[in-house]
Amino acid sequence: MRTYKIAAIFGDGIGHEIVPAGMEVLNGVAAKHNFQIEWESYHWGAGYYEQHGVFLPEDGLEILRRFDAIYFGAVGLPSVDDTLPFKLFTNFVRTHFEQYVNYRPVKLFDGLQSPLRNKNQTDIDFVIIRENNEGEFVQTGRQLYPGFTEGLAIDTSIFTRKGIERVAHYAFKLAQKRRKNLVNVTKSNTLINTLAFWDKIIGEVAAHYPDVKYTKMYVDAVSANFVLHPEYFDVVLTTNMIGDILSDLGGAIMGSLGLGGSGNINPEKTFPSMFEPIHGSAPDIAGQNRANPIGQLWSGALMLEHLGEENAANDIMKAINMVTSGPLRTADLGGNSSTRAVAQAVLEAL
Ligand code: NAI
Ligand code: MG
Repeated sequence: MRTYKIAAIFGDGIGHEIVPAGMEVLNGVAAKHNFQIEWESYHWGAGYYEQHGVFLPEDGLEILRRFDAIYFGAVGLPSVDDTLPFKLFTNFVRTHFEQYVNYRPVKLFDGLQSPLRNKNQTDIDFVIIRENNEGEFVQTGRQLYPGFTEGLAIDTSIFTRKGIERVAHYAFKLAQKRRKNLVNVTKSNTLINTLAFWDKIIGEVAAHYPDVKYTKMYVDAVSANFVLHPEYFDVVLTTNMIGDILSDLGGAIMGSLGLGGSGNINPEKTFPSMFEPIHGSAPDIAGQNRANPIGQLWSGALMLEHLGEENAANDIMKAINMVTSGPLRTADLGGNSSTRAVAQAVLEAL
């Protein structure tokens, strides 16, 4: 029987509720499609940091390397310095495992109304490809004399030709499989060094894909167009920080942050890829069985697709759509269904 070894990292907050829910659904779809998942669970994250002084053990990356993929919730706790989770966990794994593509689809589920009242499922269907290893989030800056009148702070963005080319090729290839329309979201009119370089290289890569319609748009205009004209977009290629911000807007136009799934992908499969919802650990609703599990379930479907189990992945998406067509709604969507009830309904739909 086909067997996949998956590391489940619960993280913090609602991760402890939505990751187990996702594991049940994945086990269900595996049984239906005659493969099995060998899980190993890890309670790493900010809670672990409070106990052990690290977000993951020293040999954490060595442990993770042995898996076919990583199924992750989110990290961060109000009691822990919030500059640490990204630096010591999320970005640490994403960069060491060269997960340079952050794949974040935006699609309206059956039965759900977008807050954009005139937009339907044909209008809202695109993928954000966020560069995931460099750009604005490399954290090479520093603060000098922060407590004094001379205080100053610097953050430096780093963009490399190699880093831009590889994510651009991925995005154009994806566009070829979709509606052949790629928008580069940039801000090169003001970031005249880094993002002008970004645009130049993406323009060069675009020339290799003459069948894909290529346009460049500034992020301020894109924010407006996500709301007014989401139908303009098919593949959205952008930088680490812009992609981070726009994907929460993408979540919002689907109806909730809790709906968005994502993959941190190492396309060459040299290292395991990591699949997680687009949102954070939502400490405000943690431990209440109220979190929407759908973003976590969608991330599971993306993981199966990455592993080559396309039929099983499609089945999860169909099952989610069957459930969103029905009456069950978690609180973020205006209902009072529990995390478990929604996950259970998806399992039954399967
Ligand atoms: P957040 O995404 O956790 O929450 C924002 C809002 O969306 C909250 O009101 C929350 O209740 C709601 N929400 C999020 N996911 C939901 C779900 N599945 N169902 C229903 N409602 C949901 O972002 P926030 O509050 O800015 O950050 C909280 C913590 O998460 C921080 O420590 C932050 O650093 C961390 N974080 C971690 C990420 C990761 O591990 N990849 C990503 C983003 C934030
Ligand atoms: Mg984010």
